[in-house]
Amino acid sequence: MVILGIETSCDETALALIETREENGVFECRVIASLIHSQAELHSPYGGVFPMLAKREHEKNLPIILEKLLVEAHLSSDKPTINAIAVTEGPGLEPALWTGIVFAQELSKKWNVPVLPVNHMEGHIVGSLLTSDVADGTWQPLKTLPTPSLALLISGGHTELVSIEKIGLYKIIGRTKDDAVGEAFDKVARLLGLPYPGGPQISMLAHEAREKNIVSLVTLPRPMISSKDLDFSFSGLKTAVLYAIRGAEKTPDGKLSENFISGLCREFEDAVTETLTTKLRVAIEDTGAQSIIIGGGVAANITLRDQFEIIASEYGIPLFMPSKHISGDNALMIALAGALDTSKPSRTLKAHGTKKLGE
Ligand code: KG4
Ligand code: ZN
Repeated sequence: MVILGIETSCDETALALIETREENGVFECRVIASLIHSQAELHSPYGGVFPMLAKREHEKNLPIILEKLLVEAHLSSDKPTINAIAVTEGPGLEPALWTGIVFAQELSKKWNVPVLPVNHMEGHIVGSLLTSDVADGTWQPLKTLPTPSLALLISGGHTELVSIEKIGLYKIIGRTKDDAVGEAFDKVARLLGLPYPGGPQISMLAHEAREKNIVSLVTLPRPMISSKDLDFSFSGLKTAVLYAIRGAEKTPDGKLSENFISGLCREFEDAVTETLTTKLRVAIEDTGAQSIIIGGGVAANITLRDQFEIIASEYGIPLFMPSKHISGDNALMIALAGALDTSKPSRTLKAHGTKKLGE
């Protein structure tokens, strides 16, 4: 079965083509082509994603990227050999999501193939099970997931701990009460005058601070670290950064010193890391998880990745993390989630903040 994946939930316009097969209970897939067009530069002046701008860009770019994808895959655009179209139905920015959904519906009519609605967060879960994201057409079995498993989803819109009985059967056992962790990275970066997206910038400066032994004079809180539940809160951390900036010594022209900025980035990353890893440990123990999945754009963070490796080896369980290239939004994970066909009534990880297809 050949599946076209479409992802437009935020500021990446992404399309991918995969082929899947199942023989003797073994699910295999091969990546035919995968393209991601990031709008980050366009949104940078706003310090975050501007939904109507994202919508306009998706609308403009979808047909162009599709054409490119079909050329790469050596398929005709009139009636390509595609069996289904998997599209992100949510969660995400509603105007942006609709561009992908409408595009999928139009192609579905034109090519007479079904549309498979996919939950974006489920995409981040299954994306971690790919052996390779390289579009070289090699058949690859999906990684075997020992269950019950536990996913920590860390993106610009979400921070969730999801207990996984099996792929397609999820229960959210912890989530952020306010800002998502990626959002906190982006907002703190903005406060420090760093460009959007903030995650890679903060991570780079934190790394530099560690190399140069620069420490922050300000200690930031580790929010909800000793609360009994598995929930998170990151807006207080952002506010603490704001107060630290207000109280900091400035240069004569009112600027923060470079050392202050990189020291604070290091402290912020440490606070986030300690918070996420503490809750992850508690969740592993509570659920008896036999494996860990990390998903979402923040999974590209090196400091976090190192800590997740340590936790997995401490508990002696496998860790599944997406390659850095597909930790952010991509359509490969959407095509794969569509192919796994998990949209059964048992699905509890639901799209929210969005309308369902056909509504
Ligand atoms: O999953 P994603 O691409 O989009 C959403 O579904 O939200 O995640 C984007 C988020 C942004 O907030 C970005 O700042 C963050 O991922 N991010 C990082 C890093 N790379 C991207 N956060 C921390 N460290 C990074 N290296
Ligand atoms: Zn995402």
